[in-house]
Amino acid sequence: MCGIVGYIGKKQAAPILLDGLSKLEYRGYDSAGMAVYDGKQIHMSKATGRLKVLSEITHEGATLPGFVGIGHTRWATHGAPTDSNAHPHFNETETIAVVHNGIIENYLKLKKKLIERGYEFHSETDTEVLAHLLDLYYKGDPLQAITKVMHRVEGSYALGIIFADHPDVIYAVRKDSPLIVGKSEEGNLIASDVPAVLKYTRDVYFIENEEIARLSEQDIEFFNVDGEPVEKEAKRIEWDIHAAEKGGYEHFMLKEMNEQPKTVRDTINPRIKDGQIVIEELGMSDEEIRAIRKIHIVACGSAYHTGFTAKYVLEGLARVPVEVDLASEFRYRNPILEEGELVIIISQSGETADSLAALRMAKERGCQTLGIVNVVGSSIAREADQVMYTWAGPEIAVATTKAYSAQLVAQYLLAIKFAQVRGEIGETQVAELLRDLKKLPDQIEMLLSHKERIQKYANRYLASKDVFFIGRGIDYAISMEGSLKLKEISYIHSEAYAAGELKHGTISLIEEGTPVIAVATQDDLFKKTLSNIVEVQTRGAFVMAVTNAGNTEIEKTAEYVIYIPQTNPYFTNSLAIIPLQLFSYYVAVGKGCDVDKPRNLAKSVTVE
Ligand code: F6R
Repeated sequence: MCGIVGYIGKKQAAPILLDGLSKLEYRGYDSAGMAVYDGKQIHMSKATGRLKVLSEITHEGATLPGFVGIGHTRWATHGAPTDSNAHPHFNETETIAVVHNGIIENYLKLKKKLIERGYEFHSETDTEVLAHLLDLYYKGDPLQAITKVMHRVEGSYALGIIFADHPDVIYAVRKDSPLIVGKSEEGNLIASDVPAVLKYTRDVYFIENEEIARLSEQDIEFFNVDGEPVEKEAKRIEWDIHAAEKGGYEHFMLKEMNEQPKTVRDTINPRIKDGQIVIEELGMSDEEIRAIRKIHIVACGSAYHTGFTAKYVLEGLARVPVEVDLASEFRYRNPILEEGELVIIISQSGETADSLAALRMAKERGCQTLGIVNVVGSSIAREADQVMYTWAGPEIAVATTKAYSAQLVAQYLLAIKFAQVRGEIGETQVAELLRDLKKLPDQIEMLLSHKERIQKYANRYLASKDVFFIGRGIDYAISMEGSLKLKEISYIHSEAYAAGELKHGTISLIEEGTPVIAVATQDDLFKKTLSNIVEVQTRGAFVMAVTNAGNTEIEKTAEYVIYIPQTNPYFTNSLAIIPLQLFSYYVAVGKGCDVDKPRNLAKSVTVE
């Protein structure tokens, strides 16, 4: 996720910007840049790669003298990680410089209008639209120009802006992306996160949604989207620097679980326009979508589990045959791949060796390939014919949570789109599906708010040796991910079973007190799963169940029940996985495990 820092005060700005950006490195980035006003004009330096490169080319900031400036570390979303796409971005006359964190959803429409008005673009970013739009509206009053821009743009943004005509102030603007203001004796600062300002101050203002801050060396003022003054009080930050990096959360995994409502929203919202799914990056005409004869989904680990879920959704809605493979198996099993088949590779990192090899094989065999990838510019993103990004931002905890959620919803979007284009569902059903899809972020938020209860349950499992997860259909897919989460971070052995398969062998392992976690969110399979729950319970299993609100019948058999809100049966994975992630997390915390860096695991598996 991009990082923003800004400074105005008595000291040279550039070294403070570099220092602040270094404290935001944990957010992940692929390029960096700074803009500083030198008393006459704004000067800018940008560099692809580590912050060290920017520091070297500016001689640790010495080549950008001045007391007011903004800096940025970029995590690429729109456009590859290059110098020209790095922030800040200028207007044409280089009198307005902008840094941005977030996604401008209507940037293509705005870009088209700005080009028609004669504006020239020098990057592929959505951010550059903001610089030109500010230029268009700027008639001498920066605040007025900013509020006009806020009324025009859709999406999420945290912005740092400097105007050469008003060098005694910095502006900071926020909607759905974090931004704070730090108040210090030596000058005032803006930043995406607290660690960037802790060296200078512990007095911080949290800018709320659709608010603007104006900072001078001495003063800090706040305004709403209509330019009216807003009163705010500074808060004293007591966290140490390590806690601050995690936004006050104990672990990155907990922070990332809590980011899931935003991640899901960011992956869905830009792709729904006027009630229709628009996946521009798909690069497939309706005719090509109709011509798809089969889909292969190939991935590893949790990404594979999202594909396993998507098989049910794609086959159920679009009635197109789907095969799901582990990349490490697919690449060596000489699969039958024919023309007219689409191969979808899912990967957070975009660098997983087996997934990349599978992609290359599919391309060699003449299949059309689509990457569903989180890291922009990664190998899979570069090599796939088309790429659909999951805008989850960097994931630092080794165990995936928010990227998993983003991968799921990206595939729901594909399934609905394919189903509609192939004539399998009509307008009404599309509208119903989209309505349920849009509710997911709030529903996830609600489930996250019940974490204390899940923690209480989790504490019962700290001494467990084996845990079984059972479910049918999509619930089996959810069980696979729930089981993987538990074993990878808590080191408790666990297995996921298709509930109907238990009696073909595995049920012999069930004895007095064996923990079984049953997932039963599929209405048409509820009764079947319930009888499997009874089977294990009568053999002594201690059952925890995850089911839909209203299925209270399950309480007769299960010791603990977690209810998820009503949604379309195809989307229940997005909800049921939340308590299971929390459960694994609290078991691991209770056992004193290194949650963010489990033993023997790497975040990006670039070897076979
Ligand atoms: C589990 C986990 C892994 C990854 C797998 C694929 O929590 O994170 O199972 O899902 O290694 O990684 P990517 O998605 O980067 O290809």
